[in-house]
Amino acid sequence: MEKFVINGGTELHGTVNISGAKNAAVAIIPAAVLCDDICVIENIPSSISDVVMMMRMLESIGAKVSLRNKSTIEIDSRTIHSDSVNYEFTKHLRASYYLLGALLGRYSHAKVAMPGGCDLGVRPIDQHIKGFEALGAQVNIEENAIVDAHAEELRGGPVYLDVVSVGATINIMLAAVKAKGMTVIENAAKEPHIVDLANFLNTMGADIRGAGTDTIKIRGVESLHGCTYSIIPDQIEAGTYMLAAAATNGDVIINNVIPKHLESISTKLLECGVKVEEYDECIRVCGNGRINRCNIKTMPHPGFPTDMQPQMAVLLSVAKGTSIISEGIWENRYRYVEQLLRMGASIKVDGKLAVIEGVEYLKGAPVRADDLRAGAAMIIAGLMAHGTTEIEDILHIDRGYENVVEKLTGLGADIQRIDVPDPTGIRNAG
Ligand code: EPZ
Repeated sequence: MEKFVINGGTELHGTVNISGAKNAAVAIIPAAVLCDDICVIENIPSSISDVVMMMRMLESIGAKVSLRNKSTIEIDSRTIHSDSVNYEFTKHLRASYYLLGALLGRYSHAKVAMPGGCDLGVRPIDQHIKGFEALGAQVNIEENAIVDAHAEELRGGPVYLDVVSVGATINIMLAAVKAKGMTVIENAAKEPHIVDLANFLNTMGADIRGAGTDTIKIRGVESLHGCTYSIIPDQIEAGTYMLAAAATNGDVIINNVIPKHLESISTKLLECGVKVEEYDECIRVCGNGRINRCNIKTMPHPGFPTDMQPQMAVLLSVAKGTSIISEGIWENRYRYVEQLLRMGASIKVDGKLAVIEGVEYLKGAPVRADDLRAGAAMIIAGLMAHGTTEIEDILHIDRGYENVVEKLTGLGADIQRIDVPDPTGIRNAG
């Protein structure tokens, strides 16, 4: 069993390079199955486990996936021979359902087991299904939770999303890109990785307009071809390091970012009294003593991202005054609060609201990473706490943060990954 051990209290200083975006990578890798050709994808965070698992899934259907170097992969889709992905693969990550849209787009039929992923409450796929049906597909959920989608011929059509869904927007784009005629997605998600996927597909010869607005128009094309494409930097990894710099009262340059993608985070840091300087491809974050309180409401892009909510709660747990967080996306994204209480935070949760009374400091404690971003929050808490924090269940963190120990150590943090036998012999008892 691996743990992180953090001796807190060190101000972070220096420069950290941000990796390619996980949530773009896990959409763009399956998109490569839409052509019968070779795609080269650069700036891939190839060592995080969600990306490794997505590469394995492509191999399981016959694609040849190889690493050209540690951030460039080559996908040869000419050898794909299957339209099915089973639960042994899909249980590991939510994004496995992008193979439904991609294989449906390739073959007009696909069978993919319902996905796993972070437990953030109910995670329905009704909007994905609605989109596939609007393209003329029949979708059945079989007894063993296999989603079976098939069509005689996919035909473009209008799709209005009842909720703004990143996953549904991506899946419908994947299925529609080679459908006959025009698909129009209304109330589409606008996250940076939606735009990145559209740019990748357009580089492959697709005709997609409007990505990044709430109306996306996809004119189906006959075929797509291979290409070379470099994915965007990870907005949430960058935001996490910005908050770690602020939380430790440090001075950090977060390099290889698109500052526009980080505006909602920069704005909140400025409101808290933290110094933020924007440059073309980097952001400098300097602590400025104890931070001021602020309120946060998570919303679809360009609002404050839900994937930064746990990290922000840690920062606010030591702010001057009382802050209120309102979670606008997920019903169960406060599980980490129990861990922060162990470290001396004062937080009350009522449904989608969390009321945080700032305390002077957090105390190191043994804690758990309940999911990916909760794990990132525990790291920030450990970095700023007095004493030693041990974080269990770090496999969640490895799903989305590349070389996190090396990157933080490079900024002066005292963090180690250690391998310890589980004294109880019981895994995940909680
Ligand atoms: C993506 O999840 C991200 N995952 C999540 O990041 C992120 O938290 C989320 O978008 C919101 O920004 C990936 O990109 C791989 P949604 P996704 O569909 O696509 C409801 C991380 O930490 N909904 O936009 O699954 C849903 O219940 C992960 O990197 C429906 O009702 O999220 C939620 O309330 C965690 N029906 C809201 O929409 C549907 O068919 C937004 O979900 C689909 C979604």
